[in-house]
Amino acid sequence: MHLVKGAMVGILHVVPTGILWRFARRYVAGASLDEAVRVVRDLNGQGFLATLDILGEHVSTEAEARADGAAYAEVLRTIRRQNLTCNISVKPTHMGLKLGRDLCLELFRRLTAEAQRLGNFVRLDMEDSNCTDATLDLYRTLRREMPGVGVVLQAYLRRSQKDAKRLAEEGANVRVCKGIYREPAAIAFRGREEIRKEFITLLEILMGAGCYVGIATHDDWVIEKARGLVARLGIPRDRYEFQMLLGVRPQLRDRIRGEGERLRVYVPFGEKWRAYCLRRFRENPQILRHVLRALLRPGS
Ligand code: FDA
Repeated sequence: MHLVKGAMVGILHVVPTGILWRFARRYVAGASLDEAVRVVRDLNGQGFLATLDILGEHVSTEAEARADGAAYAEVLRTIRRQNLTCNISVKPTHMGLKLGRDLCLELFRRLTAEAQRLGNFVRLDMEDSNCTDATLDLYRTLRREMPGVGVVLQAYLRRSQKDAKRLAEEGANVRVCKGIYREPAAIAFRGREEIRKEFITLLEILMGAGCYVGIATHDDWVIEKARGLVARLGIPRDRYEFQMLLGVRPQLRDRIRGEGERLRVYVPFGEKWRAYCLRRFRENPQILRHVLRALLRPGS
């Protein structure tokens, strides 16, 4: 099975860009900020919140990190100019985390200062477990300086309950998701049910402490349990939001919004969409299932 998946991922590298785009266009707003703005405006018009992500994690040069930091600042200014209900999600390795903490902190400081000036918010996405400590550390440093910054916890990591308890004490704004990277069993839960239960435990720790929480999932079971938890704890609607990825389960998205919940759509865009797609397939070959479905049923 692994061999088959490996071969399929290999084949994707030689799939012509036009064909790969047939799959990607559902999940990526486009190559340019103008295209992303159009998608966000449309989502806002339908009553959804949004968060914009410029594709391009793991930059390899300082110049690249600085250019993308400047591009994110322009996204913040565009959101304001266009009056969009939208914040930004940024991966620390995109702001040069692997090139040095000082550079990454400097670029994030500029972004959070710009967000603060414009009344907006910056979410630090969570990457693989090599980045967890550094990301939480960055988040805490930034949070001490500005309120408009949040972080992410991954339910599959065995350490997350401990992190959630500390973040709960700090009154953090936290997105909870299952986690997308392949992690060793020593540090990560593998079972579907275990991860689901862990997800709800994290929500309970954070919501119980009054934190603002982003519930990032397309899993009906998690959504139902999360809503049960919200009702049981008496959490007001302005203390949490559901979050979903662009292109994933849009009918579920409509239903949740139709029930009066806040729902934020994660909207990736940028010229590096092809590298992003291939990287995602490598990290999680399960996604191939969705690729093949999209390729076999174009327009579905
Ligand atoms: P699950 O994987 O069980 O999916 C439930 C159902 O949703 C599937 O059966 C399928 O129908 C559908 N589905 C899910 N993903 C799909 C896809 N890509 N294409 C098509 N259908 C799909 N991870 C991380 O490690 N760090 C982060 O910072 C973030 N940030 C983030 C933000 C937001 C807004 C979301 C929604 C997700 C993330 N993630 C993430 C990804 C997250 O960790 C997780 O991998 C995916 O959300 C899939 O997990 P679900 O909870 O949706 O369950």
